[in-house]
Amino acid sequence: MASTTLSGTRVVVIGGSSGIGRAVARQAAEAGARVVVGSRSAEKLAATAEEIDGITTGVIDVTDEESVRAFFADLGAIDHLVICPGDMATGSVYDVSIEAVRRSLDTKIISPLLCVRHAGRSIAPTGSIVLLAGAGGYKAYPDLSATAAANTGVGGLGRSLAVELAPIRVNVVVAGLIDTPLWDSVPAEAKAGLFAQTAAATPVGRIGQPDDVAGTVLHLLENTFTTGALSFVDGGGTL
Ligand SMILES: NC(=O)c1ccc[n+]([C@@H]2O[C@H](COP(=O)([O-])OP(=O)(O)OC[C@H]3O[C@@H](n4cnc5c(N)ncnc54)[C@H](OP(=O)(O)O)[C@@H]3O)[C@@H](O)[C@H]2O)c1
Repeated sequence: MASTTLSGTRVVVIGGSSGIGRAVARQAAEAGARVVVGSRSAEKLAATAEEIDGITTGVIDVTDEESVRAFFADLGAIDHLVICPGDMATGSVYDVSIEAVRRSLDTKIISPLLCVRHAGRSIAPTGSIVLLAGAGGYKAYPDLSATAAANTGVGGLGRSLAVELAPIRVNVVVAGLIDTPLWDSVPAEAKAGLFAQTAAATPVGRIGQPDDVAGTVLHLLENTFTTGALSFVDGGGTL
């Protein structure tokens, strides 16, 4: 049988208090999983627990190894781990702040590695990990070189971990532009322009919603014959 059910399994969603992670947490809970959501903000976690019945939550900062160690030490055995925190460094290679580049590589590359280091031995051999990457880098865009390095780095990290951690499966979802709070820092008019321009340039004619990505994450958790995959959920944007 190529797929299993999430019913009764323990699914941990790091960065599950917003956007894509929150949609994953909701869909996994609806599929009968026992869901644990982690992120930095106790307030966002409380709002998520109010929205999704039956989940438990815990504070974790994935950029702080002690916080990661303590979070997973308290959890014990798990079946599936989904790692969603993101940070983006944008701007020309001449202008982008090196501090922003380091922060983004810290969150996108080093943090998943820390999560896997401290959770990996608690994941059931039948379990799996999903990492989130973005499309920038799988298609080249100007002013996104640092983000491209982070996103393609996540792809390499996931494929290597799929070999190292086997039989635990490790997959990577490569998401296109998704309408989440990640974009709230962009001024409203610029955000509307970016969303419209991207929708027009995307083969399916729209940008993505968190549930589009969450559906693929759930599929990867359930499909026992898929590991080391890069699954594009980008409406064809990288074609
Ligand atoms: N939205 C897009 O267009 C898009 C496109 C491609 C890829 N992605 C990737 O998809 C993933 C999810 O993005 P999203 O759009 O859903 O973002 P989001 O709505 O901003 O959610 C990010 C989540 O990560 C948590 N988080 C951030 N930094 C953290 C840290 N240091 N430690 C622990 N938790 C942390 C946030 O909660 P707290 O603030 O409480 O910590 C929140 O729950 C990211 O990896 C992002 O790069 C997004």
